[in-house]
Amino acid sequence: MKVSDAINTRITTRAFLDRPVPGEVLRRILETAKRAPSGGNLQPWHVWVLAGEPMVRFKALIKEKAAVTPRGEGTEYNIYPAELKEPYKARRFKCGEDMYATINVSREDKFGRLMNFARNFEFFGAPAAFFFAIDRQMQQGQWADLGMFMQSIMLLAREEGLHTCPQEAWAIWHKTVGEYLSIPAELMLFCGMGIGFIDEAHPINRLRTDRAPLDEFATFVGV
Ligand SMILES: Cc1cc2nc3c(=O)[nH]c(=O)nc-3n(C[C@H](O)[C@H](O)[C@H](O)COP(=O)(O)O)c2cc1C
Repeated sequence: MKVSDAINTRITTRAFLDRPVPGEVLRRILETAKRAPSGGNLQPWHVWVLAGEPMVRFKALIKEKAAVTPRGEGTEYNIYPAELKEPYKARRFKCGEDMYATINVSREDKFGRLMNFARNFEFFGAPAAFFFAIDRQMQQGQWADLGMFMQSIMLLAREEGLHTCPQEAWAIWHKTVGEYLSIPAELMLFCGMGIGFIDEAHPINRLRTDRAPLDEFATFVGV
C-alpha cells in the first residue's frame, strides 16, 4: 500500500466488526511504528495493548462506573482550550453535526448523542485497543512525538487491512484505566485507540470529514 493510500483511506472508525485482530499483527504494527521520529530520539511513548477477556472485563467495569458517574473522573489535561476560537470552533461543531447526521441523531436528541458518546467506552465495538501514556515530565514537543507515533500506528493499521479510532474520550476515565492497566503514576494517560476491521455497512462510517483548503493553512515563501 502506498503511504498516500494509507493516509487517504484512514478514517476515524466508529463501528467495527466482531472479528478479532491477531496479537502478532498488533505487535508487528508497534514494531514498525517505533521507527517514528522524536526530538532527541527520546521515544517518549508508552503503550498498553488490550484485547480478549481482559478487554471484556474492562468494558464491564467502565459500564458499571459510568452508571454512577457518567461524566467520569475529570481529565488531567485540557482536551480543548476553554474558549476555542474560530475557525477551530466552527470546525469542531461541523464535525460533530456531520457525524450525528450520518446516524440521524438531531441536535435536540440529547439522549441519542449521549448514547453515541457512550459507544466510545465500548471502543465502538473494536476487538482490541491501545492506550497511550507519556511521562508527566514531558513537554509539548514530546506530546507531538507521541502524536507522530500514533499516526504511524493508524497508517500501518491500514496496511494490515485494519481501521482505527483515536479516542481522547478515555481521558475522562484516566484513574480507572491507570489502575486497570497498572500504568505507573509518573505517566499520564493521553488517549485510547480502538483497532479492528471496519463495519462498512454501518452509516456512521460513511462520514468523510472536511479539510480546509491548502491556502488557509499553508504559506509558501519562495515557492
Ligand atoms: C488525538 C485524537 C483524539 C480523538 N478522540 C476522539 C474520541 O474520543 N472520540 C471520537 O469519536 N473521535 C475522536 N477523534 C477523532 C476526530 O474527531 C477525527 O480525527 C476528526 O474529526 C477527523 O476525522 P477523520 O479522523 O475521520 O479524518 C480523535 C482524534 C484524535 C487525533
